[in-house]
Amino acid sequence: MRVRVDADKCQGHARCHAICPELFAIDDESGKSRVRHDPVPPPLEDRAERAVDNCPESALSISN
Ligand code: F3S
Repeated sequence: MRVRVDADKCQGHARCHAICPELFAIDDESGKSRVRHDPVPPPLEDRAERAVDNCPESALSISN
């Protein structure tokens, strides 16, 4: 599984980081989310999916 952040859509709500800080970092300068592991480590996949579902801007997407 891979997760991608659409930087044009991300508004820095940081729900992704709250749900899975191991996977999502908030960039100090841009304030936007950055994916730390590509592909997503299997133990983080469930929370990665929850993060995707909980982004209010629909900025996160999953691919295989
Ligand atoms: Fe951005 Fe959505 Fe996370 S707006 S910081 S990808 S919760």
